[in-house]
Amino acid sequence: MWRNSKDRFGTITKSFHWVMALLIMAMFGLGRYMTGLPPSRDLIYYYGLHKSFGILLIALIVMRIFWRKSNPAPKPLGDDARANRLAEIMHRILYLLMVLVPLLGWAGSSASGLGASFFNLLNMPNIAPENETLELLLFRIHEIAATLLVILALAHAGAALYRHFIKRDDTLRRMTIR
Ligand code: HEM
Ligand code: HEM
Repeated sequence: MWRNSKDRFGTITKSFHWVMALLIMAMFGLGRYMTGLPPSRDLIYYYGLHKSFGILLIALIVMRIFWRKSNPAPKPLGDDARANRLAEIMHRILYLLMVLVPLLGWAGSSASGLGASFFNLLNMPNIAPENETLELLLFRIHEIAATLLVILALAHAGAALYRHFIKRDDTLRRMTIR
């Protein structure tokens, strides 16, 4: 039940998947929204929120990768080997971006000199030297990588819906209710 089995995803994998999918989409919206705000108290509040949930996502992706390593995914469904290979490559890229995007945000915040805290409970150490050129560069890559992550996640969701409604297999069902 908790762990994946030969042909099913367990509750822990499903929880990681859906909680993180939701958080990532919300973080993308929040990031776009807050960077358009005029300097204000709201701006400071939303930046703090974005950084805190971003740090939460770093902790989640580390735990998720450990869980995945000790708990292999079930075999892909269907006999289209090319589609399944493509799905596997897509999953790897999504994992990579789920690591890179928040790390770049953390590094950019370090380079800005403001740093990042986790809900004002824990101050994160700086992982890049304070430098304005570096800050702009890191945030630019943070933005591009986050956009790529969301576009690929949408394509990935499209593929899941295609398998569900057109191919009519259990791919989406076994990541949700089955
Ligand atoms: C998966 C997690 C994350 C996603 C999807 C995400 C997404 C975004 C997006 C879309 C923007 C707006 C970029 C723009 O349009 O200029 C942004 C900006 C920003 N992000 Fe993130 N972010 C994540 C994690 C983090 C983390 C962990 C931190 C820091 C600890 C962080 C710090 C920032 C900061 C400070 C900005 C504003 C940069 C600026 O003022 O130009 N982000 N993020
Ligand atoms: C930010 C959003 C998302 C991210 C980052 C993401 C990422 C991933 C990753 C990395 C896997 C591979 C799991 C593994 O084998 O270890 C996966 C599996 C899966 N995802 Fe997503 N996902 C997102 C959103 C969605 C959405 C919106 C849907 C459905 C509409 C979806 C449907 C699925 C399904 C059905 C699987 C299982 C595939 C299989 O059986 O091999 N995902 N997702």
